[in-house]
Amino acid sequence: MTAEAGLPDTLRDLPAWTPNPVELADLELILAGAYRPLTGFLGSFDTAMVIAGGRLADGTPWPAPVTLTVPKELTGHERIVLQDPEGVPLAVLTVTEAWQDPTTQAWRLAGPLEALRAPAHGPFHRLRRRPDELAPAEGGTLGVATAGPLHRKQLGQLRQVAERLGARVLVLPLLGGEHDESLVRALLGVRRELPDGTQIIPVPLPPRGDRERDVLLRAHVAAAYGATHLLADAEMDGTPIPLVVPEPWAYDADVEVWRPVARIEPDHVQAELTQERLNELLDAGEPIPDWFTPPAVAAELALARPPKRSRGITVFFTGLSGSGKSTVARGLADALIERGGRTVTLLDGDVVRRMLSAGLTFSRADRDLNIRRIGFVASEITRHGGTAVCAPIAPYAATRAEVRRMVSAVGDFILVHVATPLEECERRDRKGLYAKARAGLIPEFTGISDPYEVPEDADLTLDTSRMTPDEAVGAVLGLLVEGGWVRPE
Ligand code: ADX
Repeated sequence: MTAEAGLPDTLRDLPAWTPNPVELADLELILAGAYRPLTGFLGSFDTAMVIAGGRLADGTPWPAPVTLTVPKELTGHERIVLQDPEGVPLAVLTVTEAWQDPTTQAWRLAGPLEALRAPAHGPFHRLRRRPDELAPAEGGTLGVATAGPLHRKQLGQLRQVAERLGARVLVLPLLGGEHDESLVRALLGVRRELPDGTQIIPVPLPPRGDRERDVLLRAHVAAAYGATHLLADAEMDGTPIPLVVPEPWAYDADVEVWRPVARIEPDHVQAELTQERLNELLDAGEPIPDWFTPPAVAAELALARPPKRSRGITVFFTGLSGSGKSTVARGLADALIERGGRTVTLLDGDVVRRMLSAGLTFSRADRDLNIRRIGFVASEITRHGGTAVCAPIAPYAATRAEVRRMVSAVGDFILVHVATPLEECERRDRKGLYAKARAGLIPEFTGISDPYEVPEDADLTLDTSRMTPDEAVGAVLGLLVEGGWVRPE
């Protein structure tokens, strides 16, 4: 559906803007009433007060800035339509203030929101509920807002605390991570281990990078969903999150519904499995012990972090033209195919430029776009458990880092710097391009008249002037075998 098709006539001429994923999540929570008392995005004064003291300008406690960033061009309108990434209009923002963030200089719009339609996308959408759709529970509600699965220890703790309080259990899976569907499935999978009447309601609440504010925001949302008590988090990311809403908040007049829940160890105290050890087991494809987590959770953990042998990976070669990238990349792809067990896609620089990036020049902007496209394809291949072997020049460190980030979110990434010296590349000059570049016939030629930023984050560095192509391929294969991605021969 296009934006226009879904809009009433009066809104058709309004400018439309697609907020970023965190802002879209905020939008959904504002419209659902889960961010009460907020009814729209915050203005400059509220934002400053929230950052400085955790309160809105009128004194209401509010832990985190909830703002909307737009390009400057959009700051001159009275109303704008906010749409999802597919262009479906979700809400109309009536602009009460256009303001510039004093630190980032980004432009922001504040004002109330009017819903056009409920966002209807994402896995397990049918489980979403607005707070006003839930009937209050007589004995109170024990909430647990979590971005990670519940293992035996947390399940035991939840059962005990719920029983002690006589409260209903409300599990709020926090969406916005990389494996939302896995998280929800893992929580649905342990439903039988939770008290009768437990509700599981996913809420889009991605982390914002400030741990304390994140925890408080979760607490606010849980309270909006009727939680009278909060078991703050069961997330397993190494650092334990406080299980108690920090004291001043718990007793604040406006949030008095919370009472802190002391950390209660279950009777059967179990040895903990550290995140590190858990990852080791998952990487090796070994079973997760039943005492630690129920089988349904273990299965989801394995899906979200598959054994390295079957996990997607991108091997990204970077280096000058004529450095031997293509030859080594081709050799690696062949060797992997010969060994079997992995599907391989080769994204060679010259080949990509004839297909995916046909028409692009060698300006910085076009080179970046070229590398982003390669990164996008590689990350999709990686997401699906394949092997992407890329071999562009990729001269800019920042763009390579962007690709590393994209791929690492869904699988593994290895950067191989083919560091053959420029003199050697030029001496080989297999395509005669260096001669032309020296003669000024090809402008912006990497290494001659255009920069190449030497990687400082390469996982492997090869110099093809000192080794045969077979040796170079062997070195990359060795790394993959050593790391567990490829089985030894
Ligand atoms: S990148 O900079 O965007 O990563 P890419 O790997 O796609 O470059 O393309 C590099 C190939 O294009 C080189 O191997 C060479 O054959 C050809 N080429 C043509 N013009 C240039 C240029 N100005 N700089 C570098 N390579 C060029």
